Amino acid sequence: MKPVVLDCDPGHDDAFAILLAAAHPAIRLLAISTVAGNQTLAKTTLNARRVCTLAGITDVPIVSGQARPLVGPVELAADVHGESGLDGPNFGPPSVPVTSTDGVGYLRELLRGSPEPVTVVAVGPLTNIAALLLSTPDVGRHIAEIVIMGGSTERGNSTPYAEFNIYADPEAAAVVFGSGLPVVMCGLNVTHQALAGAKVRRRIAEVGGPLAGACLELLDFFGDTYQRLWGFPAPPVHDPVAVARVIDPGIVGCVPSRVDVELAGTHTRGATSVDLHRRTGLEPNALVATELDADRFWELMVDAIAVLTERGRAA
Ligand code: BDR
Ligand code: CA
Repeated sequence: MKPVVLDCDPGHDDAFAILLAAAHPAIRLLAISTVAGNQTLAKTTLNARRVCTLAGITDVPIVSGQARPLVGPVELAADVHGESGLDGPNFGPPSVPVTSTDGVGYLRELLRGSPEPVTVVAVGPLTNIAALLLSTPDVGRHIAEIVIMGGSTERGNSTPYAEFNIYADPEAAAVVFGSGLPVVMCGLNVTHQALAGAKVRRRIAEVGGPLAGACLELLDFFGDTYQRLWGFPAPPVHDPVAVARVIDPGIVGCVPSRVDVELAGTHTRGATSVDLHRRTGLEPNALVATELDADRFWELMVDAIAVLTERGRAA
């Protein structure tokens, strides 16, 4: 079992990342930290509690982190995830508490106290992770790998060239890519292949129960958004792709590459410059995902919903 912390900004696809990380036996989920991103910190934290309550994830501390990016204005994605950040299902009041409102301090102590290096999976803006690295120079010794959903080898979604998680805090992303730690980037070029089409939805429906029902409602809302904003035929469920990479690296094929984050750029602030063909002469600083086995990915995801549903029935 790999010890993992999941840093997120739920968010429809973040919800699926939480389910996969909590359910899969290859992962020991030590904490869920939240960050401002898809919605304000208060809303993303509430949403993490909602998802964990619904899925019966009661043994994983939820800690809230940074409410604003390192530099620049707060960028939210209400146009993608709705006013709540998790529009669609009708969640009841959450019963899972917030363990700490000092998310960065909590992660610092957690990592320092871990008997083995911890994998950090970050699927929101990288503010918490950058704040942790900047404030704790020795913390890298306790990190096995940082696996992010963010960036792209191609075009963006927040702006023509910037993907949301990087665009929302480019300086933080630059800290992570410049950290010298092992970084894996799962960008839009692969997550746009993780489409929840009709077959996937049928398989989730077959699981039955309230969790599967809520997952389908999340996908309905997310699907409408992606159809309206980007003309997608089905919603791409980005964030659990990073979790799948940790569970089974064979599902997400990567190549070593140099990644730099555009911090200025007249039209390209927040873009990831990915040197796939070694044109810069700079050493690679990340493994960049270039291939996704979507069938195996969805097998993991549907199994996770089934496992949590079974646990709920048995409880
Ligand atoms: C990323 O941005 C957010 O809206 C999603 O949750 C995902 O992490 C996709 O660009
Ligand atoms: Ca996210």
